[in-house]
Amino acid sequence: MALARLIHPVDTPAVVLTDRLNGTYVASLGKALAAPCGSGVVRRLPASDVTSDGVLITPMAPPASSPAPTPPPLGSPAPLPPLTGRRIRAAIIGAGAIGRGSHHPALAQLAAEGETEVVAAVDISADAVKAFCAESGIPHGYTDLDQMLREQRPDLVTICTPPTLHREQTVAALRAGAWVWCEKPPVPTLADFDAIEAEEGLGGGPYASIVFQHRFGSASTHVRRLLAEGALGRPLVVHCQTTWYRDTAYYAVPWRGRWATEGGGPAMGHGIHQMDLLLDLLGPWSEVRGMAGRLVHDVETEDVSTALVRFANGALGTVVNSVLSPDEVSRIRIDCERATVELTHLYGHSNADWTITPAPDVPAAEVAAWRDFGPDVPSSHLAQLRELVVSMRAGERPRSSGADGRTSLELITALYKSAFTDTTVKAGDIGPGDPYYAALHGGASGWAPAESVKVSGSATEEASA
Ligand SMILES: NC(=O)c1ccc[n+]([C@@H]2O[C@H](COP(=O)([O-])OP(=O)(O)OC[C@H]3O[C@@H](n4cnc5c(N)ncnc54)[C@H](O)[C@@H]3O)[C@@H](O)[C@H]2O)c1
Repeated sequence: MALARLIHPVDTPAVVLTDRLNGTYVASLGKALAAPCGSGVVRRLPASDVTSDGVLITPMAPPASSPAPTPPPLGSPAPLPPLTGRRIRAAIIGAGAIGRGSHHPALAQLAAEGETEVVAAVDISADAVKAFCAESGIPHGYTDLDQMLREQRPDLVTICTPPTLHREQTVAALRAGAWVWCEKPPVPTLADFDAIEAEEGLGGGPYASIVFQHRFGSASTHVRRLLAEGALGRPLVVHCQTTWYRDTAYYAVPWRGRWATEGGGPAMGHGIHQMDLLLDLLGPWSEVRGMAGRLVHDVETEDVSTALVRFANGALGTVVNSVLSPDEVSRIRIDCERATVELTHLYGHSNADWTITPAPDVPAAEVAAWRDFGPDVPSSHLAQLRELVVSMRAGERPRSSGADGRTSLELITALYKSAFTDTTVKAGDIGPGDPYYAALHGGASGWAPAESVKVSGSATEEASA
């Protein structure tokens, strides 16, 4: 079968790539284009291949480098070739805002550095994936994930679809031997998360890592080290705030504000970034006491939640997750014995967004060293992807996967359980058999969807609205 290769339009703005049953073709809108293959070969496509609607269609010869590995026989997930001496072949699932705006640019930057190549994109919408491939020079567009996995055998699949699809798509990719980088929120429930973990490779991968880009970058790395080394003394008091604003129009989109489609309210969809960063900086939480309210919006989920959290290191904290706050801010503040560390930003941070305020007796030289965050590397998808690629090449479990990727989801689940049951929930409490393990609303009266809710492995069979 002929293979389409990476196309960079040189003098045409749009490139459309289509897959046909009898082979893969490259089509480009416009007169002519130069097509540098992965090997650096440049082909100029003949004008005779222009179709009546002005689309160039031509089968391409197989490239000299990074071919799609031979598809394995059905049911046999043969291991992919080692990731040494070649680019990591990546596929992006979901051609929406985050796929286009963050995943592709990060992968493209690493492609320019010789690390990756984007071999395919998938979207349920043929128009969306066509447009994405055209504007981004991605050689293969699909509407069927399994077909893409079979035909392209990517090393890395990045998942940029709504949360309720993350489990099934991640499992499909892992079973095809690919590593996964899945957008937050990871999955709707702990049961989903554990099902994914059960599909990971044993030693050496493939692993599924969650996109928590706020953990990455120079400042969070620096502060994490200061805290881990005990330089700032014992952490004592913590504030974690995601106070954002989303209007009625935002919630008019039918899938928003519903457990089944959005996965959760602002604790899950918005506050997860700051809670995850806080846990990454501070270490595990041990117990939580939460409250949730539906104060403004006509939604199934909450539109605001608060929590008191005790951490394993003894620190006490408050968490606020809101979409009702006109003065929007994301903030983490950690008061330690010797200094207060504070991060104030909105959707991403750089060195300038962090302050360190010493206690009165700390020597000036030490404070200066604390405040030296090094060259500024803002938090970003790119910063996380760089580390992921290193882990892939080393065959090591990446950060933000496994237990490390699960910790904020467990805290959020516990926050909901605490809020809906009016109890304190301890870390590790929620496992198979607990209603909150299989549904974030836990079947709680007044919070679960109106229709009857089946929660697997639990006593909760019915939920009232
Ligand atoms: N890390 C961050 O800062 C950040 C920011 C925004 C969104 N996100 C997350 O990214 C994910 C996607 O959000 P978005 O804003 O890009 O959404 P979006 O609606 O813009 O894009 C989702 C895309 O997935 C496609 N899709 C739907 N079902 C599909 C299927 N079965 N197979 C393939 N494609 C399918 C849709 O057609 C759409 O193009 C969500 O989990 C969201 O929470 C993360």
